[in-house]
Amino acid sequence: MNKIGKFISFEGPEAVGKSSQIRSLGIYLKKLKIPYLLTREPGGTIVSEKIRKIILDNKNDISNNEELLLLMSSRLNHINNVIKPAMNKGKLVISDRFCDSTFVYQCYVNGYGISKGLKLHKDLLDNFLPNKTFLFLISPEEIIKRLKKRKKNNKYDKINLSFHKKIILGYKKISKSDNRFILINANKNFNYIQKILRSEIYKIIN
Ligand code: TMP
Repeated sequence: MNKIGKFISFEGPEAVGKSSQIRSLGIYLKKLKIPYLLTREPGGTIVSEKIRKIILDNKNDISNNEELLLLMSSRLNHINNVIKPAMNKGKLVISDRFCDSTFVYQCYVNGYGISKGLKLHKDLLDNFLPNKTFLFLISPEEIIKRLKKRKKNNKYDKINLSFHKKIILGYKKISKSDNRFILINANKNFNYIQKILRSEIYKIIN
């Protein structure tokens, strides 16, 4: 039987460059013939991609608790139908965002409460967590600079310094003294960050 694969998530505020780093990692893993699966949240399954559209559409009038429940149900669908089956086949699963986004955006910034969010995650999702999480951090001023250059923005890509400061603070709070997190300085250049990611992933899977 295959060895159970590992699960890694990428987290951070808006415009930190995690998605392009993940794409580049995929090319590297393919070259090394390491079995892997790249996925994302909200999303990752047909149902969860539909829920993503509902959540991120500015035109939809959804309260924070409604959004939280949509995220939890889409996450459970993602875990059961994609993440766990791939891990059971021995694959390295890499998700662009996972539960920590909920703990920060809905629970800390939007006010549901981090400890209540952690409890929901325990009760409803069996406390299923990544083996490791790369947390990308940059200054809020740099986020604004990068967002202004973007053509298409979603619900949380707002040009609002205090909002992004709060997101960063939330990530710092939830990652403090938890060795699941590997902090990445997203101000560094692309190749430098990619090199760090590759060497950390090598350690995680070996
Ligand atoms: P992204 O795929 O570009 O990172 O966009 C996803 C957006 O959804 C981002 O603004 C963060 C937000 N989000 C939450 O608010 N809560 C969550 O649990 C997740 C997974 C994402």
